[in-house]
Formats: sequence, structure tokens, C-alpha cells
Amino acid sequence: MKPTVLKRPVQRALQCFGFCAALSLPALSYANYTCELTNVNPWNNGYQIDVQVTNNGSSAITGWEVTLEFPNGADRTGGWNANFTDSGNRVSASSLSWNGNLSPGSSAYFGIIGNHSGDFIEPICSGSDDVGPTPTPTPTPTPPVTPTPPISPTPNPTTPTPTPPGSTPTPPPPTGAPGVRVDNPFAGVQWYVDPIWSAKASAEPGGDAIAGYSTAVWMDRIGAIEGPSDGDGMGLRDHLNEAVAQGAGLFTFVVYDLPNRDCAALASNGELRISEGGFERYKNEYINEIAQILSDAAYETMRIAAVIEVDSLPNLVTNLNEPDCQEANGPGGYVDGIRYALQELGKIDNVYSYVDIAHSGWLGWSNNFSASVQLIGDAVSNLGNGINDIAGFVSNSANYTPVEEPYLSNPDLQVGGMQVKSADFYEFNPYFEELKFVTDWRNAMIARGLPSNIGMLIDTGRNGWGGSGRPSGVSSSTNINNYVNESRIDRRSHRGNWCNQAGGVGYRPQASPYAGIDAYVWVKPQGESDGISDPNFEIDPNDPAKQHDPMCNPNEPSRYDPSVTTGALDNAPHAGRWYPEAFQVLIENAYPPL
Ligand code: BGC
Repeated sequence: MKPTVLKRPVQRALQCFGFCAALSLPALSYANYTCELTNVNPWNNGYQIDVQVTNNGSSAITGWEVTLEFPNGADRTGGWNANFTDSGNRVSASSLSWNGNLSPGSSAYFGIIGNHSGDFIEPICSGSDDVGPTPTPTPTPTPPVTPTPPISPTPNPTTPTPTPPGSTPTPPPPTGAPGVRVDNPFAGVQWYVDPIWSAKASAEPGGDAIAGYSTAVWMDRIGAIEGPSDGDGMGLRDHLNEAVAQGAGLFTFVVYDLPNRDCAALASNGELRISEGGFERYKNEYINEIAQILSDAAYETMRIAAVIEVDSLPNLVTNLNEPDCQEANGPGGYVDGIRYALQELGKIDNVYSYVDIAHSGWLGWSNNFSASVQLIGDAVSNLGNGINDIAGFVSNSANYTPVEEPYLSNPDLQVGGMQVKSADFYEFNPYFEELKFVTDWRNAMIARGLPSNIGMLIDTGRNGWGGSGRPSGVSSSTNINNYVNESRIDRRSHRGNWCNQAGGVGYRPQASPYAGIDAYVWVKPQGESDGISDPNFEIDPNDPAKQHDPMCNPNEPSRYDPSVTTGALDNAPHAGRWYPEAFQVLIENAYPPL
């Protein structure tokens, strides 16, 4: 990847005393809030910046407005969670109706993306009346006599790049002392961008719009730890070294090699079998090897988020009719494997483990929810490392649900004498929105005795569902099925359809979008297949156990409702292989649009 120069002003957070945004938001006359850049992520020609606005005063505020001043120009192309006004080198962001009310100590979060050419210099964030000395055509109101906020020095764009090519990169100062655990590892640091995925994304039409975001690195077989034997690719250590070189403070990877993997499907069957000593190999050749690399002192100032075994424990709740899952429910199976992984990773102070909980369209029914709380709750409890054992849970990678269903937020609403959740599409599952599901899950886990600082992650890589089919309002039909079908943003024919769906890129990765939610993350990288569509497939040499699952065949009925087809896209390669057609669909259907 072309090196990008990132320069940080010394002072990142400016206090905004008294006069902030007084002209446009009169209710703010006693406001006292700070504005901090929590994630600054530049890539070749683009950037993403996440911003946290915190009420540091002693009284509530009803709105905020901050300004980002870009020394080299902003060229903003998008943003979320704020109203934006662009003017010269400045981007002003003000609160929306739902995130302006901040009680003392609470925060709102927004983000922007844009383009840059040449060196990228991160902006200075300040209250709207307090922008530094650069003259712009926008008249800047003069604040009344007030305490002077600290002034950030203007960064000097000619400062040389800190890491000369070919030298050993100096680990960045950013993330805190070794061994000091933070509440939310995703907040306040730059996230690693996988250069291999990024290059593939960037080579696709429209791909530059997402190529600079962080996606998780999958350790999907023992061989992935070392990386390709011909050296053409990256193993775990290569990725970590690259993360250090990028100055990243956070690296996210996926632990994905349980014995009897993908026990209720065929597309991602793994290399290890319980009946062939798979548990011993999982411990010795897989988890121990990963743990040894992660323990290297070279990475101790970086936060490492581990997504633990996507699509595993939920199968022990709902798919015990499958012989492979029955076996996985016994000794040396999923629970033993995950407990071992958590125990070993929990010994490393800078590793934060998040256990997969599928998604609400799978575990949302009350019987599944309560059985999962018990099974998964037991699996992650009493592991011996105290709070290091588990940082939280992650959803929406093994299939996915929208974060919100904006036109169907009340499952109990009556339409034509029927509750919305009784529509065919929802099948009495009361959860339509992943945000509600993970919030309830977190509360249930805390009630069960897990630490109150656990956080949730939602994979928003594919659950955007924008594009021309996206409804723009609530249906006026009084027929319950029409009402739901015309109002829902989830455009699948069935919620169980998991293979290569025509979804869309969802919310961009960001820390702390809501209380209790550590981050929106992209775990499943866009453009990587869920499974091969052709029943007459050739074996994947990397993963000879991967097979064709009929759910990946566009011509087959859905396993979960034979009255509809699978909705899978055609011409798909094996799971994990690059699949340009799927990437294109996700870009076109992105929501928020790219
Ligand atoms: C595949 C893995 C792959 C992952 C991410 C899974 O479905 O089985 O091999 O690494 O997706 O694309």
C-alpha cells in the first residue's frame, strides 16, 4: 500500500466553554463540551474520521455543534449521525434530533469520510466558534469574553514522514501502557486496515469508497497462522507487523477453526474433526500457536480484538438434529474449544475476546434466546482469568439483521387486527432490529453475572439494504404481510437465507455508536463468498472440507421455507474466496449510501 503520512496535532481535544454554537443553537448558552477524534483512518486517497462529543459540564445540553478544520482541505464525501455543512477547509457538524440531548458525562458520536490527495493531515476539532487562525470565507462570530480554550498548534505539513521506507517502524505511542485494559478497545485508536482485502476492494469498481476501512482478518485454518508457504500473502504475524507499521492501535481477527466447524451446513466445513483428534489439534496447533504470536512483546501496546468462532455455539441451541452438531455438543466440541480459546487468550492482557452470538433472526425467539443465554452464558463463565476472559459478544456475522428497521420498530403493533411480528416474514420472532437484540442480550448476560462493562459488537458489513428496493416509509396496507413486506428494509425472501445475499454495505465501522455497543465492525469482509453456488464444484485446495451447500444455490428452495428460493447470488466461489459480483451488489446497495 502506498504509505500515507498521518500527522497529529499535539492537542486533540478542545474544551468548548460557554459560547459554543451560541448563534445557531441558543439553548447552548452554558454548554461545556469536548470534541475528540476517536478514530483517524486515512488511506491512499480517502479517509474516515470518527468523532466523540462529550458533555463535560454539570448540566444537560440540548444540542451541540463542532467544527473540523482540515489544514489540507476536507473534501468530505459522506458522514453519519450529524448535520453537516462544508465550507472551505472546514466541516461543521451539529446534532440531530436524537443525539443532541446529552446529560453530564455522556457522549454523542458521529463520523465523516472524504477524499484527500497528497499527505493527509488530521483535522483539529473544536467548538464552532473556536476554530483556529486559518481565514475562510465563512464569517466566524467573535466569542464574548470567556476563558481562552487551549489552542492547537497548526500542524506543519512539511514535517518528514516518521518511518523511512525499509526501516523498522517505531511502535506508535497511542494505546496506553502494556497490561492496562480499557473498557472499550475500539474507542480512541486507529483501526488496522488489512492491505490484502483493501487492495482487492480498491481494484473493484466503486471499491475505493470502502477500501480504507478496517475488516477482520480470519484465521480460518491452521495454515492461515503461518500464511501461504510461497510467501505470497500474510500470516498472523505479518498482519500484526503491518498493523504496527500502520500505527494502528487496534487489530481485529477471527478465531475460526473449531472441530466439526459449520456443523449444520456444508459451505464452511473445516479441517478438524472431533472423531479424528480435532480437539487436541485445535489446542496445540491452532490456539496455542495464535496465543504465542499474540503474546509477543512487539504487540503489547496494541489492542487485539478476537472474534471467537462465528456460527458455532448457536448451532448447539437450534441444530442438535444434525449428527455433526450433536457430536459438537459433547466432549472436545464447541464448548470445550471455546473455553480453551478464551482461557488462553485471556492470559494476554491486550487481547479482548468477543464471542459470536449469530443474530436476532436466529436466536430472537424467546425459547432460543433463553436457551442461548444459558448455554453461551455457561460456556463463557468461570474461566479463571477474571475480567480478561471475555470483553463481550459479537453478532451479525453468521447471517445478519438490520441494525434498525426504521418503519417497523414495534413488533407488537396491530395492523388489520394482527401483530406485526405475526407476519410470515417475522414468524413471531419479536426481534426485527439487531440493536435491540444485542442490547437485551447484554443485559441478560450482566444479569447472569458477567461484568457490567461487557460490550457488544455488531457486524454491519452487509446489512445496509439500500438501493432502489429500499422502502422510504411505512406501508399503508392493512394486510399484515403486505404491510411488513412493503415496510421492511431487510429485502430477503426469508430471514434464514444466509448465503451470498443481495444485501448492502451497512454502517461504517465506528466505536461506541450506542451505550453498551463497543463498535460497529466489519467482521465478514465484503467480497468474500459465503459458499460455492455450483453443486458440481471442484475442491478448494486450501480447505478440502468445504462443500456446496444448497443454500448457496440460487435455484434451490430455502432450507427454512421451501415456498421461497435461497436468494443466493450465482457464480459464487468457495467460502472465503474473492467474489466480485457480490462485492458489486454490496456497494450498489450500501446504506448509508457510499
Ligand atoms: C469462510 C472462511 C473465510 C470467512 C471470511 C467463511 O465463510 O469459511 O474461509 O475466511 O468466511 O470470508
